[in-house]
Order: sequence, then C-alpha cells, then structure tokens
Amino acid sequence: MSSKIRLGILGGGGDSLIGVLHRVASSMFDSFELVGGVFNPNIEENIGFAERIGIPTHRVYKDFDTLIEKETALPENQRMQVISILTPNFLHFPMAKKLLENGFNVICEKPMTTTYEEAKILKETLAKTKAVFAVTYTYTGYPMVRQMREMILGGELGEIQKVDAQYYQGWINPIIHDKEKRANTWRLNPEKSGISCCVGDIGTHAFDMIEFVTGQHVNSILADLNYLYEDNRMDIDGTILIRFSKNVKGVIRASQIATGEENNFTVQVYGKKAGLKWEQENPNYLYLLEDGQPLRVLKPGHAYNSKLSLDGTKLPPGHPEGIFDSMGNIYKGIAKAIRGEAYNSGEFPTIIDGARGMDFIEKAVESHRKGNVWVTLD
Ligand SMILES: NC(=O)c1ccc[n+]([C@@H]2O[C@H](COP(=O)([O-])OP(=O)(O)OC[C@H]3O[C@@H](n4cnc5c(N)ncnc54)[C@H](O)[C@@H]3O)[C@@H](O)[C@H]2O)c1
Repeated sequence: MSSKIRLGILGGGGDSLIGVLHRVASSMFDSFELVGGVFNPNIEENIGFAERIGIPTHRVYKDFDTLIEKETALPENQRMQVISILTPNFLHFPMAKKLLENGFNVICEKPMTTTYEEAKILKETLAKTKAVFAVTYTYTGYPMVRQMREMILGGELGEIQKVDAQYYQGWINPIIHDKEKRANTWRLNPEKSGISCCVGDIGTHAFDMIEFVTGQHVNSILADLNYLYEDNRMDIDGTILIRFSKNVKGVIRASQIATGEENNFTVQVYGKKAGLKWEQENPNYLYLLEDGQPLRVLKPGHAYNSKLSLDGTKLPPGHPEGIFDSMGNIYKGIAKAIRGEAYNSGEFPTIIDGARGMDFIEKAVESHRKGNVWVTLD
C-alpha cells in the first residue's frame, strides 16, 4: 500500500482557478495522493473532470455530505486523511467544521471563513481535536519570502520602523462598469464571498504576509475602501493604514481596479539597519537595501540563505521558483505535520493566521463604515 497521505479535494474543478495549483503542489514532494473529492456541484462535470485527470471515480461523490458519510464508513487506513477546501468562500466554514468534527485534517483556502465569529468557532472546534489545520496563504511558501522572514526575525534589519505591502490587480475593472457582470460575479456577492471583496480576497494576503515576515502582530488599522457604484455591495479597492505599535507603522494598499495590473503583490520592510523588498511577479529576487551601500540581490538555493528558505528550494541556484513551488512548499510542511515529523512554524499558515485574517477583514470594513476611524484588532 502507498505510504502517501490520502488527499481529498472539495471544489477546484476544471472550471476553477485554484484547483490546478493545489493538485500540482500536493504532488510535488511525493507526499500526497489525490484519491477523490467533490470537484464540482454538478455530478456530470464532477465525474467527467475526475476521469480527465485520472482519478478513480468511486470516491468522487455527488456532494459534501455524501463524502463525509462514505469516507467515515471506510477503515481508517483507507479513509481520506486530509481534505483541501477550494470552494467559494461561504462554503469554507460549514465544510471545515464538519470535517474537523469527523476526524479529518483540513487544508482551507483563504479567506478561511466569511466572518470572524465563524473563525473563532472553528478554532474552538479544532481545539477539541488533534487535527492539522492549514490555511493556504500561498505566497508564504516562496523561498525568498521565507528568507525575508528569517532575516527579519534574526535582527538583520534592526528595529522595524516602516512596513508597506501593495497588492494590485486589475481584473475587476472590465466587470465593475457593467451592471449585469458585476451582479453575476460570486466575489462581488456577499452571500458567497463574505463582507469584503478586495480586502477579503487580496488584502488578507498582504496582511498575512506582513505579519509573517515581521513576526509581529498588527495592533490597529484605519481603512478607506472604494466601492465605485451604489449597487455594488463589496469593496474593490482599499488603502489601510496599519500600526504595530507607537513607532512601527505602515500601509496596506490593495486594489482590484488597478487597471492593467496582473498580480502585482509587493512587500517592503524597513528597519533601523537595513530594508528588504520582495515582488511576487519576480519572486526569486530579494532586495537588500542599506545606507550608503550598493543594492544587494539575494536569490534562492545559495548557502547564504536560511534553513527554512533552503528547505523550500528543490534545485541548484538559477532554476526559478514560482507559485506552484511556493504552494508545494506549504503542502510539504503540512505533510510533515500530518506525519508527526518536526517542522518550522514558518512552513505553513495555520488556523491562527486564518482567524487573524478574518479579524483584519471585518475591522477594515468596520473602520471604513464608521467614517475611516482607527479600530483595534484582537
Ligand atoms: N491562495 C490563493 O492565492 C488563492 C487564489 C485564488 C483563489 N483562492 C481562494 O480559493 C477559493 C476558490 O477560488 P477560485 O478562484 O478557484 O474559485 P472558482 O470560482 O474559480 O472555483 C470554485 C470551484 O468550486 C466548485 N464548487 C462550487 N460549489 C461547490 C460545492 N458545493 N461543492 C464542491 N465544489 C463546489 C466550482 O465548481 C469550482 O470548481 C476561494 O476561497 C478563493 O479566495 C485563493
């Protein structure tokens, strides 16, 4: 029998954006075997997709409740061990909760839930189990993001004094100006997406990233969001001032109407001694800035990188690492946790990060609705 971890997937069908990333990432280190799931709510498409990707169809279920019923009836050494939730946001909470209650490990896409209250309930549910719970803030798996974290935690920048994260996309621009299109996009529908579109979808990546690389918690925020049209109930752009403490401050700039932008996610952290800059569209370069010194560029796979960074590099220097590798590294960490092996806390984001993300989203919307006021995070 295979020693691979038996993986199920919810959502992520042939019609999805993120499914292929999880399938490739999970297969990257030969640790997981995709054994079934519910890829699509339409049974024909669900089965057809499973056939196309070569998954035996007897474990491809018509819906989530059937998956729980049939999988829990299987002997433990056959049952799915971990299930990835890749559906639209509103399904994350009910699915994750039921999975935990039935003894499964969970990998959940961000945003983890649609409300902070749900996130807190999930934390309580997890506390009653021994399950592993990961939230796929994909970008934290990049070798040079891990390197950035290790350098900052190791004090190489000195005391942090400025943090800036920008996440600019333009994909909503061709949708938002057309009334019918904006009414038919699930990310702009609060019933499916939660209370926020831009902050919930990409602002949350930026928030997680700055807490990940600095190792510090944001204390309070002030948000100015943009909705553009009266009938649009979801933010599609936002500028959020952040404070870690009295003298450590910064900004998160997120937009889905930054016309023509693709996935322009950058993070910059400046300390008393030096600064570090990283860009998602050019992820193999980490820029080190120092007073009076030439700019230095750090790259993956070199011995000068930290153990955590090198653990996420598969080939010698000069072989670019991309988004699939980044998610692959997260799955690699999750596999270690499921197998009970030692791992570094930076190897994958957990329910704590997922819940902080939900607190951030809700407080950003609250700050904006109250007239752009400072709001404290838990
Ligand atoms: N980590 C990242 O960087 C990242 C990037 C993109 C999306 N996401 C997240 O991934 C999730 C999915 O996003 P997407 O862009 O792939 O969405 P999508 O709309 O492209 O795909 C959603 C998939 O879920 C399936 N689905 C819908 N209802 C279902 C049900 N009841 N049971 C089973 N499957 C069902 C759909 O058929 C489809 O295959 C979202 O929560 C999103 O925020 C994360």
